[in-house]
Amino acid sequence: MKILIIGSGGREHALAWKIAQSPKAEKIYCAPGNAGIAEFAQCVDIKAMEFDKLAAFAREKQIDLTVVGMDDPLVGGIVDVFEAQGLRIFGPRKNAAILEGSKAFSKDLMKKYNIPTAGYENFDDAQAALTYLEEKAEFPIVLKADGLALGKGVLICQTLEEAREGVKSIMEDKQFGSAGNRMVIEEFMTGREVSVLSFVDGKTIKTMTSAQDHKRAGDGDTGLNTGGMGTFSPSPFYTKEVEAFCEKYIFQATVDAMAKEGREFKGIIFFGLMLTAKGPKVLEYNARFGDPETQVVLPRMKNDIVEVFEACVDGTLDQIDLDFEDNAAVCVVLASDGYPVKYEKGFEIKGLDRFKEKDGYYVFHAGSAWKDGTIVTNGGRVLGVTATGRDLKSARANAYEAVQWIDFQNKYYRHDIGKAIDEA
Ligand code: AMP
Ligand code: GLY
Repeated sequence: MKILIIGSGGREHALAWKIAQSPKAEKIYCAPGNAGIAEFAQCVDIKAMEFDKLAAFAREKQIDLTVVGMDDPLVGGIVDVFEAQGLRIFGPRKNAAILEGSKAFSKDLMKKYNIPTAGYENFDDAQAALTYLEEKAEFPIVLKADGLALGKGVLICQTLEEAREGVKSIMEDKQFGSAGNRMVIEEFMTGREVSVLSFVDGKTIKTMTSAQDHKRAGDGDTGLNTGGMGTFSPSPFYTKEVEAFCEKYIFQATVDAMAKEGREFKGIIFFGLMLTAKGPKVLEYNARFGDPETQVVLPRMKNDIVEVFEACVDGTLDQIDLDFEDNAAVCVVLASDGYPVKYEKGFEIKGLDRFKEKDGYYVFHAGSAWKDGTIVTNGGRVLGVTATGRDLKSARANAYEAVQWIDFQNKYYRHDIGKAIDEA
């Protein structure tokens, strides 16, 4: 098969690595890709939102399957454009990707179908939101821009004053652009967070092993929110009991709810869960693989991923059993110092060769580029260093050992990825 991957981050690097292991994969392309992905795929200089160019490329190269890693093209309807031209593509159509594309939609869906989530109200209007905050809110409270905001559209406000500022920045100053035309105001929950990714074929859902992300920039979960500074898998907090609860009330219920709404979901549903004192609740849905969750989940997956993608597209996922190694993985993100605010790039990355042919060690590129024959830093998040181990502790020790193999000017990383494991 000829396979096209759409995206350019560490998630897409992990996808390219995994797809390359499939006996079915004869040739892999990635648009636009990056310097690391180029090891497994021919990178194509077309951007993820250029749907017509991508579809023309897929026709010209007779691509058998396109796999979309990123959220923007899915929410923007890339699957509909490809399908209209008879091209096979893995991912939800626009009317289903709304599960991630509109938080107001997903909250209303959960309410209608009794899927456990935080209490909330939706607002189209800043004045109504302010009145609600003044009359009804309990603090802390959570404000969410409705649309896609690079994972940054969530504000946790401790006081009425902060919440007023938040409404202003989301709905009036449009800090997150049109994503802030609507807003969700939501009850603040406490507990452990767990990410569960799943394959869905419209009817059947098969969940992958669990993972946990570390979103804050600094050690001890301090500093600003980022795209994710590291992950580990599995989560020791995602016990058999938690899993059974989610299977009963959340996973299949979501797939069935989407089907009932006439929005059949095919692709990946990523459940962001909060394990509260009152049981697991949905924090958010994503309609794609997580980044950097993918970098710890796929190295543990035994299946031929291309077979699973095809089963989702064909509606035969009920015939597939997902299988994961009985081990653990930890991914530490190497970032440019100053991320997520301001940072320099263009520095040579040294030590990448040390990962070659080392079983259980991986370096996934998030922001890298070729410059004069060397690979240089080209983003806030630069690399994801993943290592496996027989359990989380050894995976963590291995990952931090491998972090030392890499060197670039202004290298920054958290030292406590997976440290929560010690408390489990
Ligand atoms: P989201 O993009 O919805 O996953 O939100 C980003 C992060 O904000 C989550 O990973 C949580 O850490 C936090 N968060 C979102 N919603 C809530 C909530 N209702 N209560 C507490 N924390 C939240
Ligand atoms: N790691 C969180 C996300 O991919 O949204």
